Amino acid sequence: MDDMPLKGNDQNKEMFIDEENTIKNKQVIKKRLIIGGIVATIAVVIIIIVLVVTLNNGNEEPKDEQKKKPRSLLDPEKLKKYETPYYYYNTSLLNETIDEALRLSKKHDLKIHFSLKSNFNEKIVKIFASHEELGADCVSGGEVNYALKYFSPDKIVFAGIGKTDKEIENAVDKGIFCLNVESYEELENLNEICKAKGKRMNFATRINPNVEAHTHEKIVTGLNENKFGIYLEENETKFYEKIYEVYTNKDDKYKYLNFIGLHFHIGSNILNFTDFATLCKKIDTIVDKLNEKNVSISYLNLGGGLGVDYNEPALNPIPDFEGYFNTYLTNLTCLQKIGPNYNNNKKITLHFELGRSMIAQSGYVISRVNYIKEGIEKKFAILDAGMNDLIRPAMYDALHQIERVEINDDKTKYDVVGPICESSDVFAKNYTMDRLKKGDYVLIRTAGAYGESMASRYNFRDLIKGYLDYEF
Ligand code: LLP
Repeated sequence: MDDMPLKGNDQNKEMFIDEENTIKNKQVIKKRLIIGGIVATIAVVIIIIVLVVTLNNGNEEPKDEQKKKPRSLLDPEKLKKYETPYYYYNTSLLNETIDEALRLSKKHDLKIHFSLKSNFNEKIVKIFASHEELGADCVSGGEVNYALKYFSPDKIVFAGIGKTDKEIENAVDKGIFCLNVESYEELENLNEICKAKGKRMNFATRINPNVEAHTHEKIVTGLNENKFGIYLEENETKFYEKIYEVYTNKDDKYKYLNFIGLHFHIGSNILNFTDFATLCKKIDTIVDKLNEKNVSISYLNLGGGLGVDYNEPALNPIPDFEGYFNTYLTNLTCLQKIGPNYNNNKKITLHFELGRSMIAQSGYVISRVNYIKEGIEKKFAILDAGMNDLIRPAMYDALHQIERVEINDDKTKYDVVGPICESSDVFAKNYTMDRLKKGDYVLIRTAGAYGESMASRYNFRDLIKGYLDYEF
């Protein structure tokens, strides 16, 4: 049969069968090729993965060793550039902080004056001054002159209970924006100085509102027991009468004084915003009473006071500016009342004198371990930084987080101390941190505010210097 020639339909059929077979064969081959291809690709991928893992394993140190290998918060090699101890400033964080504060101040039309007392490192001040929306807050003639180098006079405010005649004269001569007057005696003195010079000066009265601020007792400023501001509770009538007298320039006595508003500062490092809300109630009452006397204001300076997170600085590097500003914006009802029958329809601008919140988290003390000393009851880590470099722990019992620059995960407890001949030269007691050895670099966090600016030469030590990250 096989040899018999095919004819007609049969032949066609055979052709179809052949074609079908060929197609089937082709499909089978194609399928096999595809499957083969996929298998080959998977195999190649597996081989590559195995190779990479093997190569990596080959480079890895043994697991135990790897555990001990330090990870660095900052590059220890770079830190060697300057002799310790010194202040190190993180300018990226500083710029982020400034941006956030300015974003909100622009949104709500607020004015911020950087409080020079918190940090007057020239390089830092230049960064603040490079933002034209920012002004300066000063509390001494020295700060005023320093501020005048970088800020325009119309952005400078000046507070302080003990301004000397010379300091006032200078402020008047330079035409700074506002003098925050802290007593009736100072008000009369300012008047005399302005009269003698024939120069008119903006002033505000700093009020002591007797509002509790839940912070360290040494940084509370707005209670009757504190030395700051005019004590309204002492004699309210006296205050309103005096302001009325100045405002209306009775008998031409106060023609050189321009009363623009009120100044408050109830304390520093305040994290409980209800204290600010309580302050708002007092402010509203005062503005209402001034309004009853037809005295209008354009300036409400609410001080600084916004606290920062000393416990978890890495988690909360930027303070809650939004919550802080909103507390004032929502609680100050005087702002909403402005109209023809209130404050003579005059706009009230809110001013803030922010120090700590603007710079604290961007500064660190960089120090090295001089000795690890085994005591009878405890182990001491003796640093080369002392209370003269960062006085906050000794002065306000502040705890600044301390970290070994190279993290080693091997924890132990120390009393971390400085070399100064004072028992109060202690940064932290019974403090759990990475095990230290002589020469290790250590950083002390949240030291940007009231750190470098409060440093001294006690024990005849060198005055600590400060460097910005781009200088490494
Ligand atoms: N304005 C006036 C009138 C002030 O007295 C102060 C701070 C500020 C503004 C800035 O406040 P801040 O935003 O920084 O809270 N050496 C202490 C802080 C003393 C603050 C005194 N006045 C510390 O290290 O905690």
